[in-house]
Amino acid sequence: MRRLRRSYDVDVHEGRLPISRRGLLSGLRDAEGLICFPFDSVDAAALDAAPRLRVISTYSVGFDHIDVERAKERGIVVGYTPEVLTEATADISVALMLDLMRRVSEGDRLIRGGGWRSVFGAVDYVGTDLRGKTLGILGLGRIGEAVARRAAAFGMNITYHNRHRLPARTERGLGARYVGFGRLLSGSDVISVHVPYRGATHHLFDSGAFARMKRTAYLINTSRGRVVCEPDLVRALQTGVIAGAGLDVFESEPVRRSNPLVRLPNVVLAPHIGSSTAETRSEMADLALRNLDLGLRGKRPVHSV
Ligand code: DGY
Repeated sequence: MRRLRRSYDVDVHEGRLPISRRGLLSGLRDAEGLICFPFDSVDAAALDAAPRLRVISTYSVGFDHIDVERAKERGIVVGYTPEVLTEATADISVALMLDLMRRVSEGDRLIRGGGWRSVFGAVDYVGTDLRGKTLGILGLGRIGEAVARRAAAFGMNITYHNRHRLPARTERGLGARYVGFGRLLSGSDVISVHVPYRGATHHLFDSGAFARMKRTAYLINTSRGRVVCEPDLVRALQTGVIAGAGLDVFESEPVRRSNPLVRLPNVVLAPHIGSSTAETRSEMADLALRNLDLGLRGKRPVHSV
């Protein structure tokens, strides 16, 4: 904010909830640049309400909240923040995996609720080893690769599915084996999702997909909530179609207490904190600002969509 204010007249939306639709449209009326977040819907109507807009700089790697095609038609540059958040997001994916499979949060809830009443028996609170299990990565891009490197250190076997198979050298370097989507579903002990949200990935994980997964399998999602059909996931978790889920993203955020996921014991929930480390968020801020500056000076942002 200090850096922004040194160079620009800044209109800031304050508060703990996203700006209202009306607020966004009226705020965009005179704006030449916009810094936004993944929960701000910068769709065609918003862009049309911004006749002077030249640059959108999103403080995120995801840009599914922006109508990029419309921005392109209007000659508006879109900057985003990949790379700097790769490692932090991979850490959260693995954290969810470990937490879920070793039941850390479940144990935490048990103790805080006064439920740990006897010394542990041989089969109490048993979890699942990561070692020797097959991790299926959907979307082996930057973050997927960082997850693969971590999972290899835990002794997991790595398979992946992408729209396009990676070069053999990359596969060898990561020890990752390419499989079709069906095989990824049926052969994985854990599936970690790293695809962007778009029409083709909408509700990719629905009841049909869960039915093809192992009953002992876990789903980890740190990409976008709408890649998973949440009501179908809830049913799959309640009826033992799959064993558990670790989620950092949801169909609707923030998650309310009325969301049935909140009451399921076999789920670990995080409040969309994939990139949330002090170091990463500061790098993202720096990058978002540089993207904005460059765009407003008529140059190409460091990372543009
Ligand atoms: C992103 O960057 O897209 C994340 O969802 C928020 O950090």
